[in-house]
Amino acid sequence: MNLGILISGRGSNLEAILTAVAEHRLAAAPRVVVSNRRGALGLRHAAKYDVPTEVVPHADFARRESFDRAIVDVLRRHEVDTVALAGFDRLITRVLLEAFPGHVVNIHPALLPAFPGLHAQRQALDYGARVTGVTVHLVDEQMDHGPILAQAAVPVLDDDTEESLSSRILQQEHRIYPLALQRLADGGIHLEGRRVLGGVPST
Ligand code: GRF
Repeated sequence: MNLGILISGRGSNLEAILTAVAEHRLAAAPRVVVSNRRGALGLRHAAKYDVPTEVVPHADFARRESFDRAIVDVLRRHEVDTVALAGFDRLITRVLLEAFPGHVVNIHPALLPAFPGLHAQRQALDYGARVTGVTVHLVDEQMDHGPILAQAAVPVLDDDTEESLSSRILQQEHRIYPLALQRLADGGIHLEGRRVLGGVPST
């Protein structure tokens, strides 16, 4: 699996993926890390693991499609076959999806279809959910939507703040993202309608 990882910020999931590769828990070759923001902190993780980085500022493009075309060009240049969105804050279009059919993966800090979009942890708290969690899914054209590869549940505690809940969810994100990517790399999954069979057992 030749991975291209798309980030916008902190990059802790990127780090978890690169660590899993280094520790032979994920059989993948990270080919390039692409950020749409020059100052993304996560770029430093790529440097630490000697993975090439490229910055493609979304503000340079008038349309989402032309931005995605530029991203696809970078990914192709690095011979990527699987794209992992890891805190990438742009909505992606058909241009990217059609370039890597069935091989664009996203992680979201809630149990989808609950709480899509921004601030999923705060949404869960505000709603009064007693359980939330994390979802790794194949990406389709809707935001935070597509066949689910893996989920992990995280309880919401009475004294949780957005920060405490986010940090417990993040631990599960870092555990489950490499597992889900490995399952995809194994080729052991298949789609039956919306269902991914052979995905990672839920916890
Ligand atoms: C994570 O919570 C991820 O689920 C969401 O954005 C956040 C990115 O964090 N999509 P990081 O940049 O990987 O640290």
